[in-house]
Amino acid sequence: MVAFPEGFLWGVSTAGHQIEGGNKYSDWYEWEKKGKVKGGETSETACGSWERFERDIKALEELGVKAYRYSIEWARIEPESGKFDEDALERYAGFTKELVSKGIHPVVTLNHFVLPLWFARMGGWEKSENLVHFEKFVRKVVQSIGQYVHYWVTVNEPNVYASMSYLLGEWPPQKKDIELTRKVLTNLIYAHTMAYDAIKSSVPTAMVSIALNMMPFLPFRNWHPADLVAARLLGKLYNYSFVDSIKLGRLARPLGNDETAPEINGKIDFLGINYYSRTFVKYFRPFPQLLNGQEFERTDMGYEFFPQGLEGVVFKAYKRYRLPIMITENGIADSTDKKRWPYIDGALQALAKSMKRGAKVFGYLYWSLMDNFEWKEGYSMKFGLYETVRDTMELKARPSAESFRRFISENR
Ligand code: NOJ
Repeated sequence: MVAFPEGFLWGVSTAGHQIEGGNKYSDWYEWEKKGKVKGGETSETACGSWERFERDIKALEELGVKAYRYSIEWARIEPESGKFDEDALERYAGFTKELVSKGIHPVVTLNHFVLPLWFARMGGWEKSENLVHFEKFVRKVVQSIGQYVHYWVTVNEPNVYASMSYLLGEWPPQKKDIELTRKVLTNLIYAHTMAYDAIKSSVPTAMVSIALNMMPFLPFRNWHPADLVAARLLGKLYNYSFVDSIKLGRLARPLGNDETAPEINGKIDFLGINYYSRTFVKYFRPFPQLLNGQEFERTDMGYEFFPQGLEGVVFKAYKRYRLPIMITENGIADSTDKKRWPYIDGALQALAKSMKRGAKVFGYLYWSLMDNFEWKEGYSMKFGLYETVRDTMELKARPSAESFRRFISENR
């Protein structure tokens, strides 16, 4: 039995595009309509949260969470460049105030993969001159809800976004280009620090971070030098390069001659970690491959069931950065719900161990409150503590929701 500190922020996470439905003026929506998602599904309906925020709040209250992470969809707020939809903003503001009035801390994400179509069409994150548009959007949001929000996530999983959209070509705009991947990552560092400045200039006490996907990289053959080197190198690039740049005020250059960048230095107040599983690296000329281990239990996503990896991830990140940590996502796709609580339980034990070893962690948010639109996988992946009954849009608590509720209420 492990007890957690008083006031620890237990909660759940979602993202606008994945739950709201009808995010029409976005790059993803256009892409989905071309039939790119598994089974031809689209986010048209999603979980219908745009019309059902009360339903979602009811579920949050039922769980007894202390924090809720959600995103503000830029494409809704600014469907056309420079034209802000005040009603949509009001809608988010009302929701945010409602959460606060219920004693639930909002954790607000400003960019969760999706872009307004107009912004994507002008090159999105590929061009540094586009960043001013993001900055304007952020200022608008801060003006509206800044006084209610203490925890901010500027950009969700920049490493996943850059890999999926620009390296592997699996998400819009489906490019496979190493140089563009590097550029996009650099621009996302600046998107983060510009948003950081915008938030802090109006709310100096706010806590601002990114949500970084972190994953242990291990050699597939632990006797093979090429696997060892590749695992170490890729792991470092994937897990640390983004925050290293910000913490050190230094940008990595292609040939290794790093450039100092004092304007980004130290602009992060806590570290948001999204953790799911680990991966193995096998060097296979000319490129290394990412694989699962040889014997493993899978989740529905095909990932290895490996909640215990959270301990090392959190401990190493804390040792490296000395930033307080919030687990901004951790979860499992499991349509049976049989593995969900064992997974969460394993992750919480791992988290407690890392804290015992000295890591400062102040929150844990499960992904996700309810089953939702899982990007390229559509609705097939069930991450929810609640099942989303799609015909009626009712949320039905799974047994794991009850386990989490009890855990939260006892704080142990
Ligand atoms: C990471 C992403 O932030 C989220 O959008 C996604 O649904 C979950 N992980 C599960 O894959």
